[in-house]
Amino acid sequence: MATIQEHYNEVLSDVYSWMYGGFESNIQRYTDIFNKKKLSPQGSGIAIDLGAGCGFQSIPLAKAGYFVTAIDLDAKLLNELKRNSADLEIKVLQGDLMGFDKDLDTKAELVVCMTDTILHLDSRAKVISLFAKVFAALESGGKFIISFRDLTYELKEIERILPVRSDESTIFTCFLEYEPETVKVHDILYRKVNEEWKLSKSYYRKLRLSKAWVNEELSQAGFSKTDLEVENGLITITASV
Ligand SMILES: C[S@@+](CC[C@H](N)C(=O)[O-])C[C@H]1O[C@@H](n2cnc3c(N)ncnc32)[C@H](O)[C@@H]1O
Repeated sequence: MATIQEHYNEVLSDVYSWMYGGFESNIQRYTDIFNKKKLSPQGSGIAIDLGAGCGFQSIPLAKAGYFVTAIDLDAKLLNELKRNSADLEIKVLQGDLMGFDKDLDTKAELVVCMTDTILHLDSRAKVISLFAKVFAALESGGKFIISFRDLTYELKEIERILPVRSDESTIFTCFLEYEPETVKVHDILYRKVNEEWKLSKSYYRKLRLSKAWVNEELSQAGFSKTDLEVENGLITITASV
């Protein structure tokens, strides 16, 4: 199995924005989501984006006035973030999000970890450890926003073949293989290069976490209040200190 880093480098990073419908539309989408949540700096102004990718959350948060640190393993996605935020002060770190608190000398006001990033961690124990670290890193009144898909429901047989997106030069399909604690996500990408279809394929594992489990572990970590929304199967939980 590829590591997360290898999987993104081999298949996902080059088409990530395209796969989600384009860079600008996602910046607008998250600007709207954060506006709806009435997020604006009220305390230290420090926001940490765990698994920031190409910046769908970091860029709107920086535009809203937060001092953002964007952390991700993937160099290509971070380069896309940097290219698209030259006028903004975003601190970009390439590395493992589990170490986000290493050099943090002031408590943060906001931590986000969105679009399945927590499902990329290799165990539930790591998720529990991350929740404890985030709780300790947040100031009083601080918020932690997570979004993920609940993969506990098992698709059967050919339902497991998912067309992700396609156009005249790119076809992206995903195949899911269920295991008790995880799902093997096989990504299959065809791109037309010089009139020939070039195949990239790789798989990685995602954790199968239910919203009830995540809520319970957030409360065990010390978060006092959680607010939960579901949109097109994507669960967003906002937990407060
Ligand atoms: C599904 S993407 C989400 C990116 C972004 N938050 C968004 O909503 O578009 C997951 C991201 O998490 C990163 N990632 C996964 N595990 C990581 C880890 N342990 N440390 C840092 N980044 C990680 C991947 O490289 C990828 O960019």
